[in-house]
Amino acid sequence: MDTGRKAHPSRAGRSQAGESRAAATPAADAPAADSEGDGAADATQPLHVRIEERLRAAVARAVGAEHRETDPLLRPAAQTSFGDFQANLAMGLAKRVGAKPRDLATRIVAALEPEGLFSKVDVAGPGFINLTVDDRALAEAAARLGSDPRLGVEPVPVPMRVVVDYSAPNVAKEMLVHHLRSTVIGDAIARVLAFIGHEVIRQNHIGDWGTQFGMLLEYLDEHPELRSGGRLEIGDLNAFYQEAKRRFDQDEDFARRSRARVVELQAGEVHSVASWQQLVDASLAHFEAIYARLDVLLEPEDIRAESAYNDSLPQVIDALADVGLLEESEGARVVYPEGFKGKDGEPFPVIVRKSDGGYLYATTDLAAARFRVEKLRADRVIYLSDARQSDHFAMVFQIVRQAGWAPERIRWDHVPFGSVLGPDRRPFKTREGGTVRLAEVLDEAQHRARRVIEEKNPSLPAAEADEVARAVGIGAIKYSDLSSDRVKDYVFDWDRMLSLEGNTAPYLINAYVRVRSIFRKLEREFEAPIDAPIQITDPAERALLLHLVEFSRVVHLVADTLEPHRLCTYLYELAARLHRFYERCPVMRAPEPAVRESRLALSGLVGRTLERGLDLLGIRVVSRM
Ligand code: ARG
Repeated sequence: MDTGRKAHPSRAGRSQAGESRAAATPAADAPAADSEGDGAADATQPLHVRIEERLRAAVARAVGAEHRETDPLLRPAAQTSFGDFQANLAMGLAKRVGAKPRDLATRIVAALEPEGLFSKVDVAGPGFINLTVDDRALAEAAARLGSDPRLGVEPVPVPMRVVVDYSAPNVAKEMLVHHLRSTVIGDAIARVLAFIGHEVIRQNHIGDWGTQFGMLLEYLDEHPELRSGGRLEIGDLNAFYQEAKRRFDQDEDFARRSRARVVELQAGEVHSVASWQQLVDASLAHFEAIYARLDVLLEPEDIRAESAYNDSLPQVIDALADVGLLEESEGARVVYPEGFKGKDGEPFPVIVRKSDGGYLYATTDLAAARFRVEKLRADRVIYLSDARQSDHFAMVFQIVRQAGWAPERIRWDHVPFGSVLGPDRRPFKTREGGTVRLAEVLDEAQHRARRVIEEKNPSLPAAEADEVARAVGIGAIKYSDLSSDRVKDYVFDWDRMLSLEGNTAPYLINAYVRVRSIFRKLEREFEAPIDAPIQITDPAERALLLHLVEFSRVVHLVADTLEPHRLCTYLYELAARLHRFYERCPVMRAPEPAVRESRLALSGLVGRTLERGLDLLGIRVVSRM
């Protein structure tokens, strides 16, 4: 009864995972700079790595080699007048070495070697170290990014095998907007983790099991017209579900038959199983269509639905009994996870088997957790679901820990997100107050994007305008979800998400288009790197360069925090700096050819960073709009 086709732990077919794997070795093997901090490898490393290395060397010289590994706490400077970066380590380190923070900062600065990297270094306030990067070092760092397909993003030294559980809609129900959040945020997280070199295993834990199937199967039997040639044709899954539910609530006899039907299904009765499979297939076709429209990387083989764990549910109960965690409460089998209390202050029971022998959502998640450790050999497991399930996951993780089913080193993360609200800040509903079908939302997005594009460029040929509307419309929906802090509720606002101004997909795609159009006008190939030395002739150029060299740090930050909105904020700022640069530094009317080449190289780099950044978010670009 397995709806899930086999999982594929190796994903050689997916370009990103493959690409990062190939690139994973060099950085890991790169010799660490020597204790002087100026090893030969120094100059080829990302700028922030070089700066940190210099700071570490200075710390070692100032207070002893045993403090060399102290995190320099390097940040972009809060204000440009302070310099480019600040290092905040002196405050914490001072306590450990028994010095005043400001004195310590002064000693570190005195020991810091500025050659070839800093043009100015000073101490401010209680002990901040302000650093201004030398123009040449900055230009060279940017030029190196230009020839690097990874744009300076180093792979992690120790790749992990990470299971990402996301999307997970429910069979025989329409995919809804909250599944959009899980799908879109989960996909972005999976892409980022794969890009920095982790092996990502996607798992789509589709809800295809439970007592509701009794009523659905009974209803199907009453409506043979829904089957054509052995296949189910359900246009509107929600209406189908609601009709069945109405029958169940109103007709005593139907309800009785439905309950008996669940037992038959669970016992593997052939007719019921076949009907159930048809229902599953019809729903999967609907999900696949949505995934394709959304450009998410989920594939049919990533599906390991709830039913796939059926056979291992009795083993979960046995295994809990073996470690002495299983208890009885009013005929049901329960586990009391440590540290969880109910409203009454008493230990909170997680039911794993009902008194009638039925299993629950939590039992399935326990089975899935065991599978991910034992069969998928995960080093880390990440679950995407709305914040209301936080307690559920916390308890599942705690039970897994107490039962000793996973080595301590395995990391378990629930990545929660808030609800989707309408512009009136109430739960997002249709005008009639019904649930919003995802397919209709996507249609409307494309439709609205088409109007925005027509207005912007009426001369775009119709077929191209359709393609652009798809990229922009779908991109707008995804981006607006990704760009807000995920734990907060998120307001679904058509006008804002489709605006060509502000932190939106249309704004970013438009910035990219602007770069591409300069290349077109100069009849230059966008894909071919321009290998001209970068010249800094204006503060706007410098500001842009400083932001470009931050890309790697931000991508790793997203991986560490599992917060894609940080990448959105970065890209938005990048696009804003690009426009400021174009205002002050014309490319086509540059004062001389060398300056024009430099500006073109810089433009290309920004274009590629936008493209890569949006790709990590699962958003397509277009070259004209
Ligand atoms: N199907 C569930 C829902 O629609 C989400 C499943 C999340 N994943 C899990 N392993 N429980 O809310």
